[in-house]
Amino acid sequence: MKLDRLLAKHDSIGRSQARSLILAGRVRVDGEVARRFDQEIDRFAAVELDADLIQSSSRKLYLMLNKPLGVVSATRDAEHLTVIDLITDPDRHSLHLVGRLDRSTSGLILLTNDGRWSKPLMNPATKVPKVYLVETVAPIPAHAAAKFRAGFHFATEDIVTRPAELELLSDRQARLTLVEGRYHQIKRMFHRIGNRVVKLHRERIGSITLPADLAPGEWRALTPSEMSGHATL
Ligand code: URA
Repeated sequence: MKLDRLLAKHDSIGRSQARSLILAGRVRVDGEVARRFDQEIDRFAAVELDADLIQSSSRKLYLMLNKPLGVVSATRDAEHLTVIDLITDPDRHSLHLVGRLDRSTSGLILLTNDGRWSKPLMNPATKVPKVYLVETVAPIPAHAAAKFRAGFHFATEDIVTRPAELELLSDRQARLTLVEGRYHQIKRMFHRIGNRVVKLHRERIGSITLPADLAPGEWRALTPSEMSGHATL
């Protein structure tokens, strides 16, 4: 995109006003005062107007993916398809995962190349709720909810799991909300009550919900409200 167009678009001003700003020496591209208003600006250029950053030099990505079963939550894997293999954006290799899912779990995965954005989401102290739909092999007794709330001692890590909210949807289906992400946590919790998870799907992370129209394997950029919402979880 040409520089005058980029400025006009960003500041909702006319193109001639954008050109005047450039000619007045108020616009910098990658730190240099811009002299030509028809300068081509690619996505890797940093553009500033006075002290304001109009476009940052590296393109920040904030994506959601509906992870299908069988796909690995990793950036590379010698054997299986990874979540990155499903992303077609040219900058996909700059992405990291904001939390993982088992290969046998489907649903919402967040990916970004902005570590400052993902850090609070991944910090256990932030207690971001993660909501899962669980299906089990045997009926889930009503008293299970109290056990999930009280927590389970995991000997390997020597921790007690934080209170988890278990909502029974049918005799073998529940919605479970966790505020942490221990290794195979949900499968281990159900194992502790003598049951086995046969289907696990993540519906939500904080205020970001997997939309019904995002089919397994599909991804899209987060909307501005999804991106900012996690600050107010
Ligand atoms: N708990 C599990 O057991 N598996 C997941 O993928 C997520 C939470």
